[in-house]
Amino acid sequence: MPNAFPLPEGFLWGASTAAHQTEGGNTNSDWWALEHGALGEYVKEPSGDACDSYHRWREDMDLLAGLGFTDYRFSVEWARIEPAPGEFSRAAIAHYRRMVDGALERGLRPMVTLHHFTCPLWFSRRGGWAAADSGELFARYVEAAAPIFAAGVDHVCTINEPNMVAIMAGIRESGFDLPAAGLPEPDARTAEALVRAHGLAVSAVRALAPGVRAGWSVASQVYQALPGAEEVTAAYRRPREDVYLEAARGDDWLGVQSYTRTRVGPDGPLPAPEMAERTLTGWEFYPEALGHAVRHAAATAPGVPIIVTENGIATADDERRLAYTTGALAALREAMADGVDVRGYFHWSALDNYEWGSYGPTFGLIAVDRATFARTPKPSAAWLGAAGRTREVTGRS
Ligand code: FCB
Repeated sequence: MPNAFPLPEGFLWGASTAAHQTEGGNTNSDWWALEHGALGEYVKEPSGDACDSYHRWREDMDLLAGLGFTDYRFSVEWARIEPAPGEFSRAAIAHYRRMVDGALERGLRPMVTLHHFTCPLWFSRRGGWAAADSGELFARYVEAAAPIFAAGVDHVCTINEPNMVAIMAGIRESGFDLPAAGLPEPDARTAEALVRAHGLAVSAVRALAPGVRAGWSVASQVYQALPGAEEVTAAYRRPREDVYLEAARGDDWLGVQSYTRTRVGPDGPLPAPEMAERTLTGWEFYPEALGHAVRHAAATAPGVPIIVTENGIATADDERRLAYTTGALAALREAMADGVDVRGYFHWSALDNYEWGSYGPTFGLIAVDRATFARTPKPSAAWLGAAGRTREVTGRS
C-alpha cells in the first residue's frame, strides 16, 4: 500500500466529542439559553437531546473501542458540575468519573476537556470571561472537578479553542457584523482573560494531579500569504491564533485543530477559490491544512509536544471523509518526518452531532439517528479505527 505508515510508539489514536454537542439537555448552559433566546435568529435548531450521550456514553465508548481506537477525547460540562456559583454537583462529578473509568475499562485512554465553548448561564450573565475574576472562577471549577481527572487520565485540555471563544465574544460585541471572508476581531478583554484563566487552570491541574499533562487546543486557520502579503498575514493571524500558541509555551502539550485554510492578500483574507470543493460547513476541502497547522504550531511554541485534537470534515459522502482524512494524515506524516513532534491524532468527530446551531453539518465517523439515537458506524470509522488496532495507517487506493 503506497500510503501505509506505522504509528509511532505510544501515539494517541482517537476521536473527539464535546459535551454540549452530544450529551443533550444541557439546560443550565449559556448555549442552551442562546439557542432559545438571544441567538435565536442565528441558530437553525436547538441542541435538544443531541445524541443523548449523557445516557448513552457507554455505547459510544463500546463502539470506539470495538472499532480499534485507543483514545477518546470528550469534555465535561461546567454547567452541570457547578450549576450555581460555588455549588458543586457531586452527582455530575461522579458521572464524569464513571466515564473516565468506563473509558479505561474499555482500553480507551481518556483525554478530558474542561471547557468546550459552553459556560454555566450564571457565569455568562455576570459578564462571562470579560469579568475581572473569571480566571479565579474557572480555576475554582477546575479544582472541584479534580476527582474526574486526578487518576487514570494522562491529558487534560483546559479550554477548547480559546481563540474561537474570543472571536465569538467579538461577534456578539459587533452585533453580528460578519466580514465577507476570514474571522472577525476577537474581543480583547476575553482574549486576555482566557490566557490568564488557562494559566491558573494549568497550575491547578499540576497541583492537584501531578502526573497529568495539561495543555489547551487552538483552532488553526492556516493563513496563507499571497505574494507580498506576508506582513499583513502575520498581523492578521497574531490576535486570532499566535497569542494562544505562544501562551502554550510552558505547557505539557499543545492541541492543534485544523479543518481548512484561509488565503490572505494585501487587503486581508480572501474567500475560498471559486472552483474549490466546499464541505457542508462551506469550508474549502483542503486536507493539506493539517500539515501546515502542526508546522506553524511547532514553530510558534518550540519544544512543546503537539497533539492533533481535532481534524475532520462535514460531509454527507463518507468517500469524501475517507479522501480528506487520507490527505490530512499524509500531510501530518510528512510534517512528522520533517521533525515536528506530534504525539497523537483525534478525529472530529466520533459522532454526527450538534454543530453549534444545526445538525446539518455531519462530521461523524458514526451516524446517529435523530429520532431513535441508534448509532451506525460509517466505513471511515472502520478504516480509521483499524489503524488503532494494527498501529498502522493503511492508504486508501
Ligand atoms: C471546532 C470545535 C468543534 C466543532 C468543530 C467542527 O471549532 O471545537 O466543537 O464544532 O470545530
